[in-house]
Amino acid sequence: MSTTPAPLAADLDAALRRLRLRAMRTLAPELLVVAKTQRWVPEEFLRTLVEAEIASRDASNAAGRMKTAAFPVAKSLDEFDVSASSVPRASFDYLASLEWVDAKENLCLVGPAGTGKSHLLVALGRHAVEAGKRVRYFSAADLVETLYRGLADNSVGRVIEQILRADLIVVDEIGFAPMDDTGAQLFFRVVSAAYERRSLGIGSHWPFEDWGRFLPETNTAVSLLDRLLHHSVVVATSGESFRLRESRQQRGGPKLV
Ligand SMILES: Nc1ncnc2c1ncn2[C@@H]1O[C@H](COP(=O)(O)OP(=O)(O)O)[C@@H](O)[C@H]1O
Ligand SMILES: [Mg+2]
Repeated sequence: MSTTPAPLAADLDAALRRLRLRAMRTLAPELLVVAKTQRWVPEEFLRTLVEAEIASRDASNAAGRMKTAAFPVAKSLDEFDVSASSVPRASFDYLASLEWVDAKENLCLVGPAGTGKSHLLVALGRHAVEAGKRVRYFSAADLVETLYRGLADNSVGRVIEQILRADLIVVDEIGFAPMDDTGAQLFFRVVSAAYERRSLGIGSHWPFEDWGRFLPETNTAVSLLDRLLHHSVVVATSGESFRLRESRQQRGGPKLV
């Protein structure tokens, strides 16, 4: 027979509320009954309450970090088929270990469309969040736009410091759109501020030697790549686009209209 546990004494309830110990406060009434009927040693009661609070804090911190990361899609490492990709298993394992994030190394994923760059970046970012790290995801265009806004109200330095609170900053889709002079300089400021302090994970369909095509000056491309590639894991993705492969595998292929 289950009985509804008596509510917590008002002073205790208020005190736990004031201390923001929500999980403890919620669990306490029921746990008091269990502890009494099962004759727990007092330490066990305290331990169970404290562990519940810690578990709840960890979960809500992780959820907060996931939200801040702002991933555009939900992709996981489990969903990434390593054998179907051109990423060597050893590189994949090293990336999944997140040692490169601890070592403040960068990751550069370069390869044609549909070869898993964004999937890997997002999945690694999510894995890092789950491991307790702070991550921020940007497309290059969004990053430049964010920095531009900082420029407008003179807060670009603060915006960059804010971005650098993350342990891993992902900048995907580099070179989708050309960068103007100011955009390229702002991007350079982020890369150089992150240099040896934070990890950058970047994705681009342009091979490095072609970065001059979307950056306004060869000089910018050279100094950018200099910092990006020093202490960096470079993985070239290749092969046929996964998107094309999938649409061909759908029965009848893509609908022609
Ligand atoms: N190795 C892989 N295993 C599973 N799915 C993959 C793999 N590579 C790509 N995909 C899927 O194919 C689609 C395109 O991949 P994406 O990462 O967006 O490519 P890119 O960023 O290189 O253009 C996505 O839906 C992605 O989840
Ligand atoms: Mg992509």
